[in-house]
Amino acid sequence: MDEVTVGRSALERTPLFAGLDREHLEDVVAVGQRVSYDPGQAIVERGDQGDAMYIVVDGVAEVDIGGRYHRLERGDFFGEMAVLAGKPREATVKAVEPMVVLRIPAEEFQAFLAGNPRIAVGMLKSLVERLREVQDRLDTWIGGVW
Ligand code: CMP
Repeated sequence: MDEVTVGRSALERTPLFAGLDREHLEDVVAVGQRVSYDPGQAIVERGDQGDAMYIVVDGVAEVDIGGRYHRLERGDFFGEMAVLAGKPREATVKAVEPMVVLRIPAEEFQAFLAGNPRIAVGMLKSLVERLREVQDRLDTWIGGVW
């Protein structure tokens, strides 16, 4: 299988991209650069500038959210927050297994979302889930303090 086919089949099996036709999936793979990481390597670091977002093609990564860890697997995405907000990275994301990611540069990502509203809405849903997770953590923390 060539690289485009491998990338496309990884995306096809994920809720966010399922339902996109072959041509659109290949567009996503075409704007992305495949990058590999070793276990323990940081892919993005808290405080860095957000120059790209990432889709997991293979392997597992973890987001360090204040001492708790959120697992990211094939088809999950990360690094979108800093790109969308134009603010520094919220958290460090590290590979826990050998990883392959699709790196989508910030400029291509914005244009891609504009052309694929269904994906933009899917990403909004994931963002809301992430926000709720942060809110739950805060509630637990405040509950503990009081
Ligand atoms: P960004 O801030 O660009 O870089 C770190 C990334 O970690 C962030 O984008 C999100 O993609 C991801 N992230 C941050 N907080 C959470 C969370 N609570 N749950 C899952 N992923 C998160």
